[in-house]
Amino acid sequence: MPSVFETAPAASAIPITFATKATWDATCAELPAQARQFALANGFAAKPGACLALPSADGQIAQIVFGLEEKNAKSLDLFRPGLLPGLLPPGVYRFANAPHDTRLAVLAFALGSYRFSRYRKSDAADVRLVPPDGIDAADTKRMADAAALARDLINTPANDMGPEELALAAQHLANRFDANFNCIVGDDLTRQNFPLIHAVGMASSRAPRLIDLTWGDPAHPKVTLVGKGVCFDSGGLDLKPSAGMLIMKKDMGGAANVLALAQMVMDAKLRVRLRVLIPAVENAVAGNAFRPLDIFTSRKGLAVEIGNTDAEGRLILADALALADEENPDLLVDLGTLTGAARVALGPDLPPFYTNDETLALDIAACAKQENDPLWRLPLWPAYDAWLDSKVANITNAPSGTFAGSITCALFLQRFVEHAKSWLHVDIYGWTPSAKPARPEGGECQAARAIYKLLGERYG
Ligand code: BES
Ligand code: MN
Ligand code: ZN
Repeated sequence: MPSVFETAPAASAIPITFATKATWDATCAELPAQARQFALANGFAAKPGACLALPSADGQIAQIVFGLEEKNAKSLDLFRPGLLPGLLPPGVYRFANAPHDTRLAVLAFALGSYRFSRYRKSDAADVRLVPPDGIDAADTKRMADAAALARDLINTPANDMGPEELALAAQHLANRFDANFNCIVGDDLTRQNFPLIHAVGMASSRAPRLIDLTWGDPAHPKVTLVGKGVCFDSGGLDLKPSAGMLIMKKDMGGAANVLALAQMVMDAKLRVRLRVLIPAVENAVAGNAFRPLDIFTSRKGLAVEIGNTDAEGRLILADALALADEENPDLLVDLGTLTGAARVALGPDLPPFYTNDETLALDIAACAKQENDPLWRLPLWPAYDAWLDSKVANITNAPSGTFAGSITCALFLQRFVEHAKSWLHVDIYGWTPSAKPARPEGGECQAARAIYKLLGERYG
């Protein structure tokens, strides 16, 4: 991936001056007369996100002025500079002064440079930045590259991103970092006791599979990441209506994000024994599809009644979590685009997370804030656990009511985690519905940077 960062010495880099409404007058007064006149003539007032190129006497671009919120503004968006790559003419730039948070501004600049160009050449300008002194450009690039990986995987439509292609992406990553790669495909899932992954995936002509990547020193703490890899979620026989099905290519967003996280962990050589498990399936409709009220005995031995074939993500995660749990990991993390209810509760930009480890809850919330990768804790509310009761099996995958849908999904998953020392579950959305600074419309990297930060603090 071409880097947005210019590492060659760039004395000629065009300076970007950040200003707020409050600081603009002073900044403006300092400008050479012609540039000042140009800014005034354009009515520039340093409104958040406003950008203006100021000319030199010979008509070159002498500098850029860019508006930010006041530091204490309610609407403060530390990723605002992520708009710059979409606004600037081609060239090499540098920061002339400090935005509110320089590190996040540089990250935003990199994240905002992302374009999905698999099917059509991007017409974006070639805009590069000389990283300011004191910024760890390598780590910032690591984060931006990981976000681009997650976005590319999610944005690639289901016809080109089925279970096999998702497995190939994981294998590619494994090869790059010399990790072990294993994949259990199709009927072997039954033979090796992954009944739920097989049940959800069998109706598709594209065979379901369980991707298993391991990396690092076996003596290091065991960190296992599990990602929901539903390459397309039609809902199954409980078919989704068109509007609900439209963006379901993103239903492998959990898988995309654990791969992004794994890439950061391996690239940074964190001191962990990493394992990545991705159940990869397509939730399709066919004569052999699993049906409402079917009952399957899961890997863990729990009889699971299918209340709704559209609650498929928790089913495939259940078998993968059970496998992960068998080796008593120190930290078990799962990510998935599991419920519409999470979006109803908190919207697309603020995924709920669940854990009973109070230290982990505090730590991950702090990391999420620091990385501007927001997460919000919701409870594993014990009293709702009984809603998962089935009249004929051990558990149902879809309680009859619609209340607290994200919580009951988390409680379902919790039944399959017993031995892990610590467990974190994040119900992500994986998608930006309309573009925001540093966050172009489409597939999104969510929770991966926050968790990478946490792992770096614990195992760096
Ligand atoms: N992939 C969906 C969840 C989803 C839907 C995420 C829309 C983001 C946007 C998941 O498989 C699903 O369909 N969940 C159902 C669960 C229900 C049937 C218990 C849901 O949320 O409606
Ligand atoms: Mn579904
Ligand atoms: Zn789904």
